Amino acid sequence: MPTGPLLALAGKVAVVTGASKGIGKATALALGAAGANVIVNYLSSPNSANEVVQAIGPDRAIAIKADVSDLSQGKELVQKTVEKWGKIDILVLNAGILTQNGALADATEEEFDRLFKVNVKGPFFLIKVRHLIPHNPLYFYIAAFMNFFYYALD
Ligand SMILES: NC(=O)c1ccc[n+]([C@@H]2O[C@H](COP(=O)([O-])OP(=O)(O)OC[C@H]3O[C@@H](n4cnc5c(N)ncnc54)[C@H](OP(=O)(O)O)[C@@H]3O)[C@@H](O)[C@H]2O)c1
Repeated sequence: MPTGPLLALAGKVAVVTGASKGIGKATALALGAAGANVIVNYLSSPNSANEVVQAIGPDRAIAIKADVSDLSQGKELVQKTVEKWGKIDILVLNAGILTQNGALADATEEEFDRLFKVNVKGPFFLIKVRHLIPHNPLYFYIAAFMNFFYYALD
C-alpha cells in the first residue's frame, strides 16, 4: 500500500481518454498509483482497458467505452463519470490517432477529417462539457494539436 506523497491524489477523480494503451495507459496507472479514482476510456480494446482497471484496482477504476470524436459519446463519458464519482478533477485528453501513411503527399481529405475529429474537435468539446460538472477540472493535453500536423514533408 503506497503512503505519503504517492497518495497525493487520493479522493481526486481523473478521466484519461485512450487509456487502454501507450501513453494513456501509463498515465492512468500513474494517476491510480497516486491514489486517484480513474476512468479508463477506450474505443476498441476492452481487454486492455480492463487490465488497466485491474492493475489500479476495481474499487478505484472503471473502464468506459466512448469514441471521443463523437460529441454525444464524449458527453456520456463525462456524465457517467459524474454519476459514478460526482466530479472530475483531472481530464487527460490523450486519445488520438496518427496518420495512416505519414507523408503529406499522400494525405487525403477523409484522413484529414478523421484526424481533425479525433484529435481536435473531440477534445475541444470534451472541455466544453465542463459546464455539466460541479467544478472545473485541471486539463492536460497530450494529443490533439501536435499530431494533427504530424505529416512528413517530402
Ligand atoms: N507515440 C508517439 O510517438 C506520439 C507522437 C505524437 C503524438 N502522439 C499522440 O499521443 C497520444 C498517445 O499516443 P500513443 O502512442 O500512446 O497512442 P496508442 O498507443 O496508439 O494508443 C491510442 C489510444 O487512444 C485510443 N483511441 C484512439 N482513437 C480513439 C477514439 N476515437 N476514442 C477513444 N479512444 C481512442 C485507443 O483506444 P483503443 O485501443 O481502445 O481503440 C488507445 O487507447 C495519441 O493521441 C497520439 O496520437 C503520440
